[in-house]
Amino acid sequence: MHKTVQDIVARKNGTKISVVTSYDYSFAVLCDTAGIDILLVGDSAGMVMMGYDSTTQVTMEQMCMFTQGVGRGRKNALLVTDMPFMSYQTNTADAIANAGRLVKAGADAVKLEGGGKSIVKTIKAITEIGIPVMGHIGLQPQTSILSHGYRTQGQTAEMATRLIEEAGELEDAGAFSIVIEKTSQEAAKAITEAVKIPTIGIGAGNECDGQVLVLQDMLGMYDKVTPKFVKKYRNLTQDVIAALQEYKNDIETGKFPAEQNSYQMDIREATKLNDEEFINKRKRHE
Ligand code: KIV
Repeated sequence: MHKTVQDIVARKNGTKISVVTSYDYSFAVLCDTAGIDILLVGDSAGMVMMGYDSTTQVTMEQMCMFTQGVGRGRKNALLVTDMPFMSYQTNTADAIANAGRLVKAGADAVKLEGGGKSIVKTIKAITEIGIPVMGHIGLQPQTSILSHGYRTQGQTAEMATRLIEEAGELEDAGAFSIVIEKTSQEAAKAITEAVKIPTIGIGAGNECDGQVLVLQDMLGMYDKVTPKFVKKYRNLTQDVIAALQEYKNDIETGKFPAEQNSYQMDIREATKLNDEEFINKRKRHE
């Protein structure tokens, strides 16, 4: 049985929660095997998997497909999927229907960006029908172009206080956890202390109850933008390019495929292939 929302909530002030994004079967198996607590099918998939310039272009169809792949690969982790831009902002009925589609695709919970009245209403509606919701405050990539850009959030006492209020409202609405993105560590600490549900930080200091990173960022596989908050644990870009260059070279020099990568006939059959009878047969087809 995989981890549940209740297991994650029970980790408040306990062992820190590890979260990483995941968008396909193969990587989901690896993340799960490593013991990561939550696999997040983030809408960052739009950028790292689809090559879009922002997260806003990713669709419900794509998020369902990514969720299905990750769902088949995970055994132990909780699976949370981002609701993509415009899948929950239009009205409550759309939000419920789209959250339901993601659950049917394999998600255990959904994540929504934002604070304020309308998000609170949406979270209430989704949780009331039994779908767990993770909130997301601080930097909100889906709306950052129109709102506060990619600036660090919670940098004044006033801004931090507003974030603490928003977090409390999301908790009251039924959210089981909250992501805090690119926010001063002081504000994130104050939010973490103010709510009873776990906070998951990304660029929000180390006082949150857990941390999340985009998988391709931490593995050094996505170089278009690398925010300061990313720690690159490997540089797989170099490893992958080196492996592919070796492969190309092996093909060109005839090193690949080798005997062990090929299928052999029985020696008697191979000999027969050069018998006159079979040579004549071949000739007839020429
Ligand atoms: O889409 C995503 O990857 C996210 C993380 C940044 C938390 O929402």
